[in-house]
Amino acid sequence: MKAPVDQWEVQPLFSNPLYIAQDQMTDSIRDAVASLEFYDDPMKNNGENSKSQLVLDEIPELKRTVEKHMTYYVHEVLSVHRRFQLRHTCSWATRHKTGNKAHKHSHCHSLWSGVIYIKTSPNCGRIAFHNDGHRPTYINPTVQPELYEHTVLNSTEWTIEPEDGMIVLFPSTVEHSVDVSRSLTDRYSVAFNYWLHGEFGDFTNKITL
Ligand SMILES: [Fe+2]
Repeated sequence: MKAPVDQWEVQPLFSNPLYIAQDQMTDSIRDAVASLEFYDDPMKNNGENSKSQLVLDEIPELKRTVEKHMTYYVHEVLSVHRRFQLRHTCSWATRHKTGNKAHKHSHCHSLWSGVIYIKTSPNCGRIAFHNDGHRPTYINPTVQPELYEHTVLNSTEWTIEPEDGMIVLFPSTVEHSVDVSRSLTDRYSVAFNYWLHGEFGDFTNKITL
């Protein structure tokens, strides 16, 4: 359908800004992640996690890559003042075998989170973001009309196909899950949480975090 006028725009107000970038993945990072110690909870089917919760501190090359993007996302894309300092709080590696997935969850005790894909293959499990609690966005969710096209403006779920070196950053409150891996190859990723340190507010509402 033709627009009623030539000049128009839609502004995605009050959005969940999702950052996606494609970076290089090196053999040294791949080897370092694959040689971490992993544990499995056989009662769940959500893959294996590294025993270490400070994986980025153990692989400085990977931390430099992650922080290059996290700094750009928070201070440039989101315009958070540079007098506040981003700090890595925890990071862990995940190994998904065939049939593994991750349930819908968000990350507490964190402001921004993300994941970087270390080793992927076709059908190894897409990451899906969800509109938690049916928060009203483009329509009151009590009414759900059929859509002929899903876009960022009208979707309540958004999926991304991972690739080696892809990094995805998001506010930690955004719910996400990982689809079942249908690949025969192990899928490695590293997830991380970041906090913002500094002095916030003034007078009666001042706090140092
Ligand atoms: Fe997560």
